[in-house]
Amino acid sequence: MSDFAVIAREAAVKAGKLLRENIDGIRKISYKGDINLVTEMDTRSERAIVETLRSSFPGHGMLAEEETDLQNQSGFLWIIDPLDGTTNYAHGYPCFSVSIALQHEGQVIVGVVYDPMRDELFSAEKGSGSFLNGNKITVSRTSSLIQSLLATGFPYDRKECAKNNLDFFRHLLMASQEVRRDGSAALDLCSVAAGRFDGFWELKLKPWDVAAGSLIVLEAGGRISTLSGNTMELDAGEILASNGRIHEQMMDVLRQAAVGHAT
Ligand code: IPD
Ligand code: CA
Ligand code: CA
Repeated sequence: MSDFAVIAREAAVKAGKLLRENIDGIRKISYKGDINLVTEMDTRSERAIVETLRSSFPGHGMLAEEETDLQNQSGFLWIIDPLDGTTNYAHGYPCFSVSIALQHEGQVIVGVVYDPMRDELFSAEKGSGSFLNGNKITVSRTSSLIQSLLATGFPYDRKECAKNNLDFFRHLLMASQEVRRDGSAALDLCSVAAGRFDGFWELKLKPWDVAAGSLIVLEAGGRISTLSGNTMELDAGEILASNGRIHEQMMDVLRQAAVGHAT
């Protein structure tokens, strides 16, 4: 394992422990929008991660959700979501994660996602497979959409914006076995990688939501694209992740939903 992966794992577990220990404490909550909240723990987790990474890699760039934007010419950029699933966390619903990715010359080469409540550490390095607590994981073998368990999420601006995923949700709910909305996109992606979910899609996600999780899906043998099947850049604002086998079927349903929406 590279030093990058070792330190990323150390940072994720340290921050996750901090989150776990404070989940029942008094949390200071502020609002970025009417339903988009941020707790003091988002910031504390971010500071812990940045401190750990910076002490090992002082020359690297860092982009984290809350307060860190340090881009430079090193060619390395750490992309961090210090608490993915803040709404769950603020309600004490034990489904949230820490997500850390390392990009080198524009390519994600390390991805780590930690679920502190289940003590599950997902990790991948480009070309080396995906692991859960050290054991290799692979995507599911489900090949029919109607037998597939899917996951999705909805954007914070869903009341103001028509592109709120409700049409896609309705269509895929009818075409699959079930659709879950668990509240941590990074963990949703890891569940695809581990074969727990067969597919996942979402709109308006940010690079820190998908950077680590999408490498973990790819290295577990899955497929990542935009909703229409194109290469997904981290700032694409949409993602379709699957075991590969149901990818085209999901794309067909999404296409039908988009047509229905336009008419
Ligand atoms: C959110 C979670 C959620 C997704 C939202 C994200 P946050 O991240 O990943 O599952 O549906 O779109 O913004 O705000 O908890 O870091
Ligand atoms: Ca997030
Ligand atoms: Ca977050």
